[in-house]
Amino acid sequence: MAHLINRNVLLGVSGGIAAYKSAELIRQLQELGAEVRVIMTRGAQQFITPLTLQALSGNPVHTELLDSEAELGMGHIELARWADLLLIAPATADLIARLAIGRADDLLTTVALATAAPRLIAPAMNQQMWHDKACAANVERLESLGMSLVGPAVGEQACGDVGPGRMEQPAVIAASAAALFQSGLLQGKRVLISAGPTQEALDPVRYISNHSSGKMGYALARACADAGARTTLVSGPVNLEAPAKVKRVEVQSALQMLDQCVELSAESDIFIACAAVADYRPAEVQTQKIKKGAEFTSLELVRNPDIVATVSSTNPRPFTVGFAAETNDVVQYARGKMQRKGLDMIVANDVSKQDIGFNSDENAVTVVWPDGEHSLAQSSKLNIARQVVELIAGQIKPES
Ligand code: PMT
Repeated sequence: MAHLINRNVLLGVSGGIAAYKSAELIRQLQELGAEVRVIMTRGAQQFITPLTLQALSGNPVHTELLDSEAELGMGHIELARWADLLLIAPATADLIARLAIGRADDLLTTVALATAAPRLIAPAMNQQMWHDKACAANVERLESLGMSLVGPAVGEQACGDVGPGRMEQPAVIAASAAALFQSGLLQGKRVLISAGPTQEALDPVRYISNHSSGKMGYALARACADAGARTTLVSGPVNLEAPAKVKRVEVQSALQMLDQCVELSAESDIFIACAAVADYRPAEVQTQKIKKGAEFTSLELVRNPDIVATVSSTNPRPFTVGFAAETNDVVQYARGKMQRKGLDMIVANDVSKQDIGFNSDENAVTVVWPDGEHSLAQSSKLNIARQVVELIAGQIKPES
């Protein structure tokens, strides 16, 4: 799995209650092999002392921009150059706002501007603040500036509220930091991903569909693009922007998705079938709106073709990864599906739980391949996607 051996991580800690978790985060980063140095804002020092983080990191903690003593040691430019990664955890709403407009009014924001290293931000704030439009715009701006985000997690907050805004767990943040350095994993590969639901028309205004939001498939597309792959998404109707550097082909029905996937998979090294394809479609699509009439009526349905099985039976074929949405005996059923559909790997997804699977921000899965399996603990869909990419990269044969 991903590691941080020989990596210099500059950890920026800003002033929120989650600052106490930075002590554990330092340990997690070190366990993955990182050398850690810490910058604390004034606010952060109200929550945890520099001495604690100095003792844990084994390095002096940096707090001041305009301090001639500090600048004689490792000044802000040296710190910015030393970092292989600037990780800011927790990042408060205020810090995010200052980063979004490029302020350089303390050591942390100055180093954030001065570094060429990737910047990974772990937001932490009250859920109402997280939902606020100004904050959301600032977060979007950070992403458009090329910064990566991990979290926030959803749950009970220190203030008693429940919702998104908690800082992500230190182990998850450390794993995301490590995953950023796996970026060459799919370099030169062409990846095709199906995502979202399909809509099967009944008449001009009605259709049969499901609750897939596309979030998992889009997270996979982003993770594949970040890993260097030329990535194409065949997407059912969803409410999401295509990730940067990802080509999107929009479809509605399973038959349209089949056509696009079969055609595009001929030029792909890897196919990941994450879409929730409708298993059945109406036998006939009425050209006029169906009128209300009898008390009871029935609908004749026909089976849709199986897209992933069709792609996996082509010759030559891409390395083919399916998803299995199950509500019980998840891994056992997934393994059966992998064999029946002729797949190289399958991602077993327990969709019986409300907070993971369909239309949620997080997921927890077990990735299964013929002679192995690996469980990924509950985390954001992007984190799960990054780990799935690593597992795929570990399984693809040189000729795939
Ligand atoms: O979109 P989100 O809200 O983020 O939710 C993500 C998800 C829950 C939809 C996703 O993680 C997931 O589990 N996707 C697969 C859903 C599904 O249809 O599972 P299945 O067990 O019915 O199908 C097994 C596999 O066959 C899947 O790879 C599916 O894409 C594929 N399939 C199914 C039917 C069909 N006609 N053609 C197919 O290719």
